[in-house]
Amino acid sequence: MKKLFIVANWKSNKTVQQARDWLTEISNLKYEISNIENKEIIICPSFTLLPIVKSSIRDHELPFKVGAQDISSFDEGPSMGEVNGRQIKELADYVIIGHSERRSLGETDEKFKKKVLMAKKYDLSPIFCVQDETSVIPQGIQIVAYEPISAIGSGNPDTPENSNNISAKIKEKNILKVLYGGSVTSSNVKSFTQMPNIDGVLVGTASLDPLEFLEIIKNA
Ligand code: PGA
Repeated sequence: MKKLFIVANWKSNKTVQQARDWLTEISNLKYEISNIENKEIIICPSFTLLPIVKSSIRDHELPFKVGAQDISSFDEGPSMGEVNGRQIKELADYVIIGHSERRSLGETDEKFKKKVLMAKKYDLSPIFCVQDETSVIPQGIQIVAYEPISAIGSGNPDTPENSNNISAKIKEKNILKVLYGGSVTSSNVKSFTQMPNIDGVLVGTASLDPLEFLEIIKNA
């Protein structure tokens, strides 16, 4: 059975208390997801929430990993406001790089390449987002998330068939895992994860509600 990656991308949402509540709510129902050896579940909160998410996962004994939503392209040092790879590695194992919402803020392929190098330096696994099979993927990437812009936050996902075809093309570039992202919900998740070339999902809006995210984990 293939290993499925289910990634919660909270984006710029949740306070400390809301993050605590989300984890407590999932934890109260964790018996429903006891059989998930083949699923790697990764929670990606804002930087400010990384410590609380990490400690709550440990306290509740949840089978979840932690990921960051971004990483500085600079190493430790005088870079005001940046959060560097060494700092992230204390709290997370994964980092999302290349998301279209970062691209729309002006980040370039060159910048993403530097971020991937920093992630590798500190032994963080990048989840590298692409918009289609032509997007530039830096060297050394193993996990890619295919996220067509029109599907993000729109309630209008790509078709599983098209996502599967694009994923197959991405895998020709020596990529091990391709996830689908864009308007994934508990109702449509299975249609993606049952495709042979799709290894999981990156979930934005629907991951904010703990009960809906739990259903996504169960249905995937
Ligand atoms: P969405 O976001 O699930 O709200 O469409 C996905 C993403 O941007 O990663």
